Amino acid sequence: MRMPALLILIGVTLPGLGSPTASLASEDSILVFGGTGRLGAPIVRLLLQVGEDVTVFARKDSTKERLAGLKVDYVTGDLTDEKSVTAAFDSKHFRVVIDASAQRGESSKIPRFYETIAGFMVKHARRTGVKQLILHGSIGAGDNIKEVPFLKSYPQTPNMIDKGVAEKVIIGSGIPYTIIRNGLIPLDPQPPATEHAFLTTDLSTFGEVTRDDLAILTLDVMDNPARINKIYHAIDPTLKLRTGQAG
Ligand SMILES: NC(=O)c1ccc[n+]([C@@H]2O[C@H](COP(=O)([O-])OP(=O)(O)OC[C@H]3O[C@@H](n4cnc5c(N)ncnc54)[C@H](OP(=O)(O)O)[C@@H]3O)[C@@H](O)[C@H]2O)c1
Repeated sequence: MRMPALLILIGVTLPGLGSPTASLASEDSILVFGGTGRLGAPIVRLLLQVGEDVTVFARKDSTKERLAGLKVDYVTGDLTDEKSVTAAFDSKHFRVVIDASAQRGESSKIPRFYETIAGFMVKHARRTGVKQLILHGSIGAGDNIKEVPFLKSYPQTPNMIDKGVAEKVIIGSGIPYTIIRNGLIPLDPQPPATEHAFLTTDLSTFGEVTRDDLAILTLDVMDNPARINKIYHAIDPTLKLRTGQAG
């Protein structure tokens, strides 16, 4: 069994597994959707630090500024264009696929964006034998909004309904998955990782969490059998929750 990436990141060597980085890079690659974004880029950075071979799926006009100088492979496409998603999955053999995408600007005009892209991802993850699909979602997605006391007074938005459907597509797909529902992200410029964020299976929790901590938690769940087919809420008890905003 592979050593969870977080252990490698902190330099832990388990008996019989050799040096932390020696067991990596020779194995299959990681595909990151949304890797050019504010959450995706720190995830990519940490993956490279533990010796992973990383492919980032990027739109042709994506600036890639956050990944400047990093040794990653790119595949160009658009998540709403299945042909380009198919080509991405066929570009190498991917062990893990991470979705850190978010619809903004022009793509927010596409109805059922998250449901659509989840459908493409699971179809091609299944076809190509992906071992784990890690989805960054949002606390309050779908029916979860009813479970979170903090969100009781917030109306459910089409975006969050869509995110709930996307989760169901992934859960029902049979692909080993891990869903990390992100809490409220601090306003930019946000603090660096506090390293106090954690994942909980208590799906009523809500709080703030930095993107750098979410990146660390992503590597924590990667290749970790204890985190397969689970939904987590990511929160950081050391960050004071700002009021008046959610999601
Ligand atoms: N921001 C928040 O407050 C917040 C709160 C809770 C949860 N989240 C969740 O956290 C995750 C990441 O958010 P973020 O703040 O890092 O977002 P972000 O900075 O806006 O990054 C979004 C990423 O998605 C990519 N993307 C968007 N549409 C695409 C398309 N049609 N095809 C291919 N790529 C596309 C963007 O690519 P380009 O480089 O081409 O634009 C970018 O890499 C999402 O799941 C989001 O819903 C965010």
